[in-house]
Amino acid sequence: MNNKFSVLIKDKISSYYNKKIKVPSDKSCTHRCIILASQCCGISKITGLESEDIYATVNGLRLLGTKIVKKNKVYHVYGNAISGFKKFTGVINCYNSATSARSLLGILTCFPHPVTISGDASLKLRPFKRLTNYLEKIGATIIHPKSKKFSLPIKIHGTKEWALAQKHYIKVKSAQISSALIYAALQTKGTTEIIESSEIRDHTQRLLKSLKGDIVVKKNKGKRFTKIKGQVEMHRFSIRVPGDPSSSCFFVVQTLLSKNSSLLIKNVCVNDTRIGFIKILKKMGGKIKILNKKKYFGEPVADLFVRSSNLRGIKVPMKWITSSIDDLVVCSLAFGLAKGQSYFKAPEMLLKETNRIKAISELLNKLGVRAKIIKKDSLRIWGNPNIKVKSKKIIKISSNLDHRVAMTCFVAGTLGANILIQGFNTVESSFPNFLKLQKKIGAKYEIKKN
Ligand code: S3P
Repeated sequence: MNNKFSVLIKDKISSYYNKKIKVPSDKSCTHRCIILASQCCGISKITGLESEDIYATVNGLRLLGTKIVKKNKVYHVYGNAISGFKKFTGVINCYNSATSARSLLGILTCFPHPVTISGDASLKLRPFKRLTNYLEKIGATIIHPKSKKFSLPIKIHGTKEWALAQKHYIKVKSAQISSALIYAALQTKGTTEIIESSEIRDHTQRLLKSLKGDIVVKKNKGKRFTKIKGQVEMHRFSIRVPGDPSSSCFFVVQTLLSKNSSLLIKNVCVNDTRIGFIKILKKMGGKIKILNKKKYFGEPVADLFVRSSNLRGIKVPMKWITSSIDDLVVCSLAFGLAKGQSYFKAPEMLLKETNRIKAISELLNKLGVRAKIIKKDSLRIWGNPNIKVKSKKIIKISSNLDHRVAMTCFVAGTLGANILIQGFNTVESSFPNFLKLQKKIGAKYEIKKN
C-alpha cells in the first residue's frame, strides 16, 4: 500500500503545448453527492470521481446497508431515506481519506450501534477531537483507545431518539467538520445551527439547497450561518460532478511555468471557496482566464484558459489561505520560480496527509530554491526564475502517503528536475488518470514497480 510504485522523470517537457484537457470530477463534491444520495428516497445517479478516497466513502456506506452499484462509471446510490441504514457493528477503514472518516462520523452520530472508524498510517496521525467534541454534544458516545487519545481508530456509538439539535460555533476553518455536523443535523429532530467562517468550502450547503433540503444559509461579516431542519424527506437526483479545481491546479501551475504554452481546462468547479489559487497566481502575473461560467446544482462551473507567464513573488493574504489550502503545495513551485520573495502562513497545512510545509520546503531546497520555515507554520521562499531546475543526481523524494506532494514533485520533474518519486501510487486517492493527462501534454516518465 505504502510504496507500490515509484515514478522517475528525467526529462522536462521538450516541446511547447497548446492542449485541451478535462480533469476528473471534484473530490469534495463527489463525497457529498454520494453521502446525501444515501439519505434521499430512490436511486440517485452520480457521475463523479472514481478514486480511492471516494471508494472509502462508498465502502463505508455499503457496510451501513446502502446499496451502491457502479454501472458504466456512474454510481447508482439506492437511497433509503434519512437514517435508513441497516444494523452494523464493526470497523470501517477509511484508508487515506479524512473526508470519508469525518463525514462517516457525522452520519454515525445518529446511528444507534457501535462502529469503529479507522484509516491508514497517515490518517491515524490526523486530528479528530476538533470534530468529536461537537458529536458528543449532540449525544454520541466517542471512545478512543487509551494510547491514541484523539486520533483514529475511534469507536462511535450514536443515538437515534435522543440526538439534540444544537447551535455549533466552529472555531477551526474546516469544511469536514461543518459537513459532518450537517449530516448529523439531517437526522436530528428540530433545527441545528452552524456558525463558521465564510471562507470554508460550502459544497454541502449548496447541494442540500438544490435537493430542496430545509436549509437556510446567510453570510455576514466573514461568517456563514447555516440553519438545517432535520428529518425532512429528500428525493433522488442525477448529477455529473464538475472538474476538481484542486486537480486542475497542478496543470495550471505547470503551464504558467512552461514556455510558450497554453492549456484549456474544461468544466471546472469555480466555487469562490475553492479558487484562492487562481487569485494568488493571477496576482503573481499569471495569465488565467475564467471562461463560459454557468451554474450547475448551485455550483459555478467554468473553463480555465492558462498561458505561460512571467511570475512575481507574493505575500499571500490570509483571506486567501482557506480557499487555496490544498493547492498551496503546487503553488509553491510557482513561488520558487517567480521573481522575488514569497511568503505564506498556513497552520492547517501541518495537519494534512503529511506536514506539507515541511514537505514543500524540502522539495524546494532540493531543487536549489531557498525556502525557510518560520515558526513551523509559515514559509518564506526566495524565488528565482533563472534557476535551472536541473540536477545531475537523481533527487529521491517519498510521497509520505500524500497525493498532492507526489503530484507537485512530478510537475517539478516536468520543469527539468531529475526526480524519483517513491510511493507515487498515493495519487490514486484523488487523481487516478494524472499520468495519462500528463502524457497528453507531453510529459515523459518511467514507472518503477517495487
Ligand atoms: C475537504 C475539506 C478540506 C480539504 C480537504 C477536503 C472536504 O479540509 O483540505 O482536502 O471535502 O470537506 P478541511 O476540513 O480541513 O477544511
